[in-house]
Amino acid sequence: MIPDASPLPLPITQPKPMSQNQLDKKSQAWSALFSEPMSDLVKRYTASVFFDQRLWQADIAGSLAHADMLAAQAIISAQDLSDIQRGLAQIRAEIEAGTFDWKLDLEDVHLNIEARLTQLVGDAGKRLHTGRSRNDQVATDVRLWLRGEIDLIADLLRELQRALVDVAEQNVDVILPGFTHLQVAQPVSFGHHLLAYVEMFARDAERINEVRARVNRLPLGAAALAGTSYPLDRVRVARTLGMVDAQGTPQVCQNSLDAVSDRDFAIEFTAASALCMVHISRLSEELVLWMSQNFGFIKIADRFTTGSSIMPQKKNPDVPELARGKTGRVVGHLMGLITLMKGQPLAYNKDNQEDKEPLFDTVDTLKDTLRIFAEMIAGQTNPTTGGRAGGITVNVQAMEQAALKGYATATDLADYLVRKGLPFRDAHEAVAHAVKAAIAHQVDLSELPLAVLQGFNARIDKDVFDVLSLRGSLHARNTLGGTAPAQVQAQIARHRARLA
Ligand code: ARG
Repeated sequence: MIPDASPLPLPITQPKPMSQNQLDKKSQAWSALFSEPMSDLVKRYTASVFFDQRLWQADIAGSLAHADMLAAQAIISAQDLSDIQRGLAQIRAEIEAGTFDWKLDLEDVHLNIEARLTQLVGDAGKRLHTGRSRNDQVATDVRLWLRGEIDLIADLLRELQRALVDVAEQNVDVILPGFTHLQVAQPVSFGHHLLAYVEMFARDAERINEVRARVNRLPLGAAALAGTSYPLDRVRVARTLGMVDAQGTPQVCQNSLDAVSDRDFAIEFTAASALCMVHISRLSEELVLWMSQNFGFIKIADRFTTGSSIMPQKKNPDVPELARGKTGRVVGHLMGLITLMKGQPLAYNKDNQEDKEPLFDTVDTLKDTLRIFAEMIAGQTNPTTGGRAGGITVNVQAMEQAALKGYATATDLADYLVRKGLPFRDAHEAVAHAVKAAIAHQVDLSELPLAVLQGFNARIDKDVFDVLSLRGSLHARNTLGGTAPAQVQAQIARHRARLA
C-alpha cells in the first residue's frame, strides 16, 4: 500500500533576487534546485570561456540588436535599453583594453558578459536575457562571427588568385612538361599551369560565398527550443544584424528547434575550407617537386624556406610542406564536426559546444595558409616602389629541357599524320615506332632525320619539324581553355576583369 503523500512543505523563505556574488557563483549552484556545487573537474570540463571568448564582438552585437528590439516592442523600457547600451559599451572597451576579467566559473562568453553587464548596470542587465536563451544566442554568435571570417577569407582568396595571375602572365610563353601519371605527356605553358589553380581557387571562393548565404540567417528568437511567449520582432533583429539576402530581405531561421540545434552551416563551411586546403595541398606538392634538385624548375624566396641543422647545402620547402600537412588537420576538423552532429536528437545538446575549436582552427589555418601562399607566390609589394620582392623565380631552361626529354610532341606527330589523311589509330601506331627508334638512338623526335621519319610513314614531309618543336605543339592547342599562348592570354584577361 502506498502511504499517503506527505503534504507539500511550505517555502521557508521567499526567494530573493540573486546578488552579484550569487550570480558570479552561478555555475556552482544554478538555482535552488541544486544541492551541491559543480566539482572543479566538471567545471573545467564543461567550460568554454577560454576558447569561445573570441565570439565576444558577435555576442555584444547580438545583445544590442536583441535589446533594441525588446525596447521597440515595449518588453523593456527605453531606460533599460540605454543602460544595456552603456554597459555593453564599457564591456567592449574593457575587452579591447585587455582588462576584462574572464571567469571560468561563469562557463562561457555569454554568461561572462551578461554577469559583468549586471554588475555594471543592475536590473537592466538582468532583463537583457528576456525572450532569449543561450541556445539561440550561441547559434547567432557563431553565425555572425563566421560571416565576418568568410568575408576575410574571400578577400584572401582574391589576393591569392591575383598573385597566381601575375606569375601566370609573366610565364605565358614558358614551357614545361605537362604530366599525366607524372609521366611527361605534352608541353604546356607554365602560365596555363598556374591558371589551373586560379580556376580551383575561384570555385573555392564561389563555394564559400554560397555557404555565406546560409550562414547569414538568424536563430535568435528561437529561445531555448520552442520560441518564446514574448512578442519578439525577429525580422527587425535580422535586419539590425545585416542578416539579409542579396535583395535585402531579412533571413530568419523558420523553425525554432532547427535554429538552435543544427550546425550544418559550420560543417559546410569546413567542407568548403577542406576542399580549398586540398587545392593548396596539390599546389604545395608541385612546388615541393619543382624545387627539388631533380626538377630544378623554380626557387622560392629564402624567407619561405629553412635550412638543415646537419646538411649545410639544404634549403627546405617547409611552407608548402606544412600547408600540405595542415590540410590533413582541416579535413580532420570536417570529420570531427560532421560526426559531432550525427546522432544528436532535437534540439540543442551540449555536444554543440564542441563545434567551436575545430571551426576556429579551420578559420585560422585557412587564413594563415592563404595569406602566406599569396605572398610566397607573387612576392611582397613594396608600398613605396610598387615593386615585388621574393615570390617564385622560374628556371625557364630547366622547364624547357624537361619538356624536351619525354617525347612530349609525339601526339603532335600523330595529329600531323591525321591531317595528312591517316586514320588516328594508324597514326598512333606509326608514331609509337618512331618514339621507339628515337629512344634507341637517345635522341628527341625532332632530332630524327627526315628520311628516318619517312620510314615510319611516307606522308611525312619536312614541315613535320614545325609540329615537333615545343612551341609548335603549344601554339597548336588553340581551343578554348587550351594551352596555346593566345588562349592563356584570353584567360588572363578574363581573370583580371573578374578580380578587379
Ligand atoms: N557554451 C554553450 C555552447 O557553446 C552555450 C549554450 C549553452 N546552452 C545550454 N543550454 N547549456 O553551446
